[in-house]
Amino acid sequence: MKVTQDLLADVAEVLLTEEQIAGKVAELGQRISADYAGRELTLVSVLKGSLPFMADLMRRISLPLRIDLMEVSSYGGTGTESSGLVRILKDLSAPIEGRDVLLVEDIIDTGLTLNYLIRYLKGKNPRSIKVCSLLDKPARRLVEIPIDYVGFEIPDAFVVGYGLDFGEVYRNLRFVGVLRPEAYES
Ligand code: IMP
Repeated sequence: MKVTQDLLADVAEVLLTEEQIAGKVAELGQRISADYAGRELTLVSVLKGSLPFMADLMRRISLPLRIDLMEVSSYGGTGTESSGLVRILKDLSAPIEGRDVLLVEDIIDTGLTLNYLIRYLKGKNPRSIKVCSLLDKPARRLVEIPIDYVGFEIPDAFVVGYGLDFGEVYRNLRFVGVLRPEAYES
């Protein structure tokens, strides 16, 4: 893959603007704060794609909370397809036994990564586990998993920005955009 110099030139369409994302994150934070009122929450985010969402969402939640980070990678697959085989690169740094856990994800595509993570985290005996994903791409779902908080449902297109990458590039775009097919076919 060539190193892109002009990130914007590779974007065919802006799907979600910075303002739309900020509005939705504030709304999700309010809902989560109301739903978990009186409880102590642990937000678990999955690196690296969820990093901007996690950073913004946690500051919109008005409850005492802890954060923890995991990093996973999928074996095989192509640049734009997930293979479903998940490898844990970084595990939680503190126990979650007896705690209310909210898994913070960037995007649910096939659902395979989330399915694996939920089963893995349930094995650590949290009091509850729910999922908050900024984006949901239901067209490509292979495993049905309830997503408790969804920011935006998006069409079946490969998107980048606000944490999401192609080949580790484009994560720093402030909006979510659809990548031109030429950008990943070259
Ligand atoms: P799933 O296991 O197919 O649900 O894929 C989950 C992971 O694949 C996400 O956390 C992303 O890292 C990546 N992914 C899925 N769709 C996209 C996309 O449109 N753009 C960038 N990354 C994506």
